[in-house]
Amino acid sequence: MEDGKQRFYWLFRDVDGDYYPGSEEFLRWLEGTDFFTAPASTKYHLCTPGGLVLHSVHVAEEAAAMCHRYGMHELADSAIMCGLVHDICKVGVYKPTTRRARGEDGVWKTVPAYEYDDALPLGHGEKSLFLAERHGLQLSDEEAAAIRWHMGPYRDGDAAREMSEAFQRFPLAAILHTADMAATYIVERGVGEKP
Ligand SMILES: [Fe+2]
Ligand SMILES: [Fe+2]
Repeated sequence: MEDGKQRFYWLFRDVDGDYYPGSEEFLRWLEGTDFFTAPASTKYHLCTPGGLVLHSVHVAEEAAAMCHRYGMHELADSAIMCGLVHDICKVGVYKPTTRRARGEDGVWKTVPAYEYDDALPLGHGEKSLFLAERHGLQLSDEEAAAIRWHMGPYRDGDAAREMSEAFQRFPLAAILHTADMAATYIVERGVGEKP
């Protein structure tokens, strides 16, 4: 676990310099979360304590290596910062629990596991971006786009579920969406349309 955190700080300190005003405020916030102990997923990649920070380090290193490989050296520092923060949407969402699982000896036992509960369902890349900015990390337009879209198109399956979680939790989200539909398709029906 410490290894991942140490590597995170080496990379972060390597790039933050003067380029990221607010980075100290951001780190203070991050230290108050479970970022350095959380898993990276419930049961897929790095689903063990410290998995999230280690995954972030891997993505940062991989992204920087790609920048150099393709001669885009000027993007390498941004790539590291984006890699380090791209999944901060996952802080505070994995709750330790237990589940029943069959061991290699065929005997069922209770093993540690995680369950997912997101108190702020804003989407994935969108939420990482929101949290980074809210906690002081000032990112460039290009970095913001990179973090927002880091999952590519592979979020559509989760989007509807996440949206209904947001509507459950925040009535205002349901109201605004419904009002927008009502205004667009009912109130403004036929109003001001081009002939
Ligand atoms: Fe990731
Ligand atoms: Fe992600």
